[in-house]
Amino acid sequence: VDKDGRRVFELRAQAGQTDLGRGEPSATWGYNGAHLGPTLRAKRGEQVVVNITNQLGEDTTVHWHGMHLPARMDGGPDRPIRPGETFAPRWRVDQPAATLWYHPHPHERTETQVYRGLAGMFLIDDPDTDVATLPHEYGVDDIPVMVQDKAFDDDGQLTESGRFGSEIGILGDSVLVNGVPGPYLDVTTTLVRLRLLNASTARIFNFSLSDGRPFTLIGSDGGLLDRPHQVERLMLSTGERAEVLVAMRPGERVVLRSGPPAPEGDFATRRFQGGGDRFDVLELRAAATLKPSPAVPSTLVAVPRLDPASAAETREMRFSTRDINGRKMEHGRVDAVVTRDSTEVWTVRNGHGTPHSFHIHDVQFQVLARTDGGPVPPLLSGWKDTVYLPPHEGYRVIMRFTDFADPATPYMFHCHVLRHEDEGMMGQFVVV
Ligand code: C2O
Ligand code: CU
Ligand code: CU
Repeated sequence: VDKDGRRVFELRAQAGQTDLGRGEPSATWGYNGAHLGPTLRAKRGEQVVVNITNQLGEDTTVHWHGMHLPARMDGGPDRPIRPGETFAPRWRVDQPAATLWYHPHPHERTETQVYRGLAGMFLIDDPDTDVATLPHEYGVDDIPVMVQDKAFDDDGQLTESGRFGSEIGILGDSVLVNGVPGPYLDVTTTLVRLRLLNASTARIFNFSLSDGRPFTLIGSDGGLLDRPHQVERLMLSTGERAEVLVAMRPGERVVLRSGPPAPEGDFATRRFQGGGDRFDVLELRAAATLKPSPAVPSTLVAVPRLDPASAAETREMRFSTRDINGRKMEHGRVDAVVTRDSTEVWTVRNGHGTPHSFHIHDVQFQVLARTDGGPVPPLLSGWKDTVYLPPHEGYRVIMRFTDFADPATPYMFHCHVLRHEDEGMMGQFVVV
């Protein structure tokens, strides 16, 4: 915190070497180190400044995924940070307590840069939208779990080519948590809170616990849900977050796993898009005696519902081969002009058999319905900025655009399969 009370962070994007469990170091990228980046943390109401220095040999940007902030600070592809340059975005944090993240967003290079290791978490604290009795001790009972798949060649280097038949880009055969291969967590409390982030470039994870026990879903992309939900499986597509509580008994071991994302995955998805793969993600090892955690509260926080009757505008976004509504990303083209302080309803639909998703910058949305009238999973009951679009299906979502207007600087919306994004499955909107 500087003398003006601003919270100042430094991020240096750099190349390095990391032991990823392959016997020899792998070439990786990171912020302030060889791989990944620090967890940033700020309180609602705080002014933050991030001094970003680009020590890579190519352009980059840093985008604050899930953050409500002015378009000029958002790290979109229209404002590259050149090699050697420093850029210092600043904004006032004003949104509920949540698990957000940051990653590069340069034109056509997002998949590569994230895959090499440029990613980190950004946690927001806010007592008004949090529950004091939930596990809160970072690294003890409140654990960031950034999950990424990686593919390696025979020399232990990251392979960047896609798997045969993959339409979604790189699919790895090993899974890292916070950059660590074969990870385990020593659990010392009866409840452990996992802040799950799928920071893969393409892979969809469908999490469960090795003995099939249920766990408690408490939060989604934009913060806590209104109440906890017991679930046995939880699907996260790339960019999505979920906060869950796992109840542990003394001395036991249980493994967080990922298995096939049926029922949504059709045959081609299972065969070619990684949908049939299984992984052990993280082993939880309980100590012989556990400190008792407070009981899971029966309600969490207020999630005020947005009213579709108040929508000033409705739009349709159809995600097809590598475009949205038949158009690929083009600098300078604005796909939607939104009025500040208005509410909009968008129908976002996958017109295709390949997995896609919808992600929008600046706002958190609420899901109103699935386009085929089918069930909406509990993960979609709270604030979201990214949603998986099942093949040939989608969702009606509602969002409110507030505070920041800038007709000259666009925000992005796109598919968060990063290869699709790089290939042009992205549009731009301005708030005026
Ligand atoms: Cu996580 Cu526009 O991205
Ligand atoms: Cu984003
Ligand atoms: Cu896509």
